[in-house]
Amino acid sequence: METVPGWEELAPGVWSRTFRAAGEAHPVGRFVPMSPAEAAGAPWFPARGGIPPDRRGPLPEALGRLPRPSFPLDPAAVTAERVAGRLVVRLPLPPAAPVYGLGLQFFRLNQRGRTRYLRVNSDPRQDTGETHAPVPFYVVDGRGAEPPLPSYGVLVHTARIVTLHCGSTVRREPGRPPAPTRDRTTDPRWQATPPSDWVEAVVAGEAERLEVGILVFGGPDPLTAVRRYNLFFGGGALPPRWALGFWHRTPARYRDAEVLEEAREYRRRGYPCDVVGLEPGWHSAAYPCTYRWSPERFPDPGRLLAQLAAEGFRVNLWEHPWVAPGADLYPRLEPLSGSHTVWGGLAPDYTLPAARAALAQQHEREHLDLGVAGYKLDECDGSELTAHSWMFPAHATFPSGHDGEEMRQLYGLLLQRLTAELFWRRGRRTWGLVRASGAAAPALPYVLYTDLYDHRQYVRAMVNAGFCGLLFAPEVRGARDAEEWVRRLQVACLSPLAMLNAWASGTKPWSFPEAEGAVRAALELRMRLLPYLYTAFARYCLEGVPPVRAMALLPEERLPADPALAARLRAADDQFLLGDDLLVAPLFAGQRERTVLLPEGTWYGLESGEAFPGGREVTVAGDLDTLPVFVLEGAILPLCPPLPHTPQAGQALPLEVRHYGRLPGRLLLYDDDGETLAYARGAYRWLELGVDVGPDGRRTGYAAPEAAEPGPGLAYRPISWRMLG
Ligand code: GAL
Repeated sequence: METVPGWEELAPGVWSRTFRAAGEAHPVGRFVPMSPAEAAGAPWFPARGGIPPDRRGPLPEALGRLPRPSFPLDPAAVTAERVAGRLVVRLPLPPAAPVYGLGLQFFRLNQRGRTRYLRVNSDPRQDTGETHAPVPFYVVDGRGAEPPLPSYGVLVHTARIVTLHCGSTVRREPGRPPAPTRDRTTDPRWQATPPSDWVEAVVAGEAERLEVGILVFGGPDPLTAVRRYNLFFGGGALPPRWALGFWHRTPARYRDAEVLEEAREYRRRGYPCDVVGLEPGWHSAAYPCTYRWSPERFPDPGRLLAQLAAEGFRVNLWEHPWVAPGADLYPRLEPLSGSHTVWGGLAPDYTLPAARAALAQQHEREHLDLGVAGYKLDECDGSELTAHSWMFPAHATFPSGHDGEEMRQLYGLLLQRLTAELFWRRGRRTWGLVRASGAAAPALPYVLYTDLYDHRQYVRAMVNAGFCGLLFAPEVRGARDAEEWVRRLQVACLSPLAMLNAWASGTKPWSFPEAEGAVRAALELRMRLLPYLYTAFARYCLEGVPPVRAMALLPEERLPADPALAARLRAADDQFLLGDDLLVAPLFAGQRERTVLLPEGTWYGLESGEAFPGGREVTVAGDLDTLPVFVLEGAILPLCPPLPHTPQAGQALPLEVRHYGRLPGRLLLYDDDGETLAYARGAYRWLELGVDVGPDGRRTGYAAPEAAEPGPGLAYRPISWRMLG
């Protein structure tokens, strides 16, 4: 193991160093805020002052299998200083290297040259860095550096708001002549952001509570740095199989009979649906919340849930954290809550075990016992950027000692963990939606969403989320016309979570009759891709590979030889990889064709099998019925029938196995029971499907014999092989 002075190697290729404003010592009895990793319950992390090695949990084995990098920075160049109520950590940044990450960012991919204020906020309407899930984790793409260098990631680990200057600050250096300047009046090369080769990470507050962990994740390539981050924090979340089906959220004022009727309408019309989401009206009162079923609208929730379950639907409940004075929970949570209310409700201090236990017991009894499958954790982000201001202030106080700034940064993480544990304790997986998250969150079984609605921003946010262990749902709510409706649904169906959120609009997939064929095709494609998607998520869980990822995470051999084209490909934010073999190039409303930057290799149209030589830009046309999806040469794509809902363990599932191109291919298809945590104890298997290519070019498909044996999950039956391209 390489020794890096001042840094501890916590895991292979993960180094840590803690900086404190109040000095290096750790005074006994001093309050130290919870770290994001603690809030998220990440199984393996450096907590307050470091966890002794004998008390650290097991590391995912896959971490040890990643290539072993060298420490990517000059250790002596990383310094910290205390300046007027702030702790400033300085880290070198290789010249010209792009900087990716920083959480759920809607406005840009490369953050180099920007100052980002990484505060949790529900209205990321401006390119400031504020967002539902800001993550002070950045990935430096060393391939774009001058000269090229290994890539790596850095996490600024703290509960406080981080202002991250990503190559946007220039210090005077004593003894060094000032950098040359240009005259703006006459020189068009003048730039508003002067080049800087430093990152400055700043947290503000009382010296006593300023403690920042810097974690460095080695590459050598950007994807390996991201995988290391994901695996270090427990690996990506594995959804239950049903979570990969289609989700529909019913209007907020619906009563039980209307919910049931709407669900049944999916079945009658033959549209797939796995999850029905109930919005605020299921509570007896919401904003603030009671968490109790409305006696008027849902007099017998147990019966409704049983009926829905019998027809193949799971139920997801909307809630937010602010507890109504009329809630049964109020008296118990009252002494365990913050100094300020939100919408008249309590803001419980969920860093306290007693507060967590109170909510957990109520939810178990009144929701989980009836069969509720998961939650949508809304409004835990707060806003000041619009006409509305709602959230406890940064100066709020909480019984644990946290202040409002820290609590707001941690709230989404705390709620995800608290609610996920309700299901984990029963040995079951859950999957839900959340509107605030942060660092150390890959293992939390939640997908982010937003009230913003710009479709291009949605795609960019989804791509950006994959740098930082986050997932994003580009939910569909409404559309101006049939074309926009189709384009949005097509993208949603090729995303981590395919959902129609009709809480206010009352829309249904069939709301635009002229688009029925295209919408049905999009939802059916989602269902047909189920085995492929489940495998992509298993790779996220077990190997840290994000299921949806940016072009910047492509391996070196897929980048075009032409450096300018390679740089453009890495910068693309309107196309993405879904799993290992699919490249999705969304068409947005108004577009009939678009350019796509294809990585090296030959790519094939998903349905047409048409070949496109890669390493170049191509223009593709798309009628309303199709979204351009390209399949990599040699890929094996297992497709199942478009079932009305996802299959249960033990069910036989016929597969159409496709092979694209002339290169032999091999796929390991993941399978487990789809519902429980048994996979974490090894109860899963990888089924091999492959295609051999003979000397005459003839392609022959094979499935390893165990594919036909009963396993913990589905009985796959490869019944047809299609050779395309
Ligand atoms: C919003 C949320 C919507 C919907 C609504 C219900 O803030 O983003 O998806 O749940 O609350 O009031």
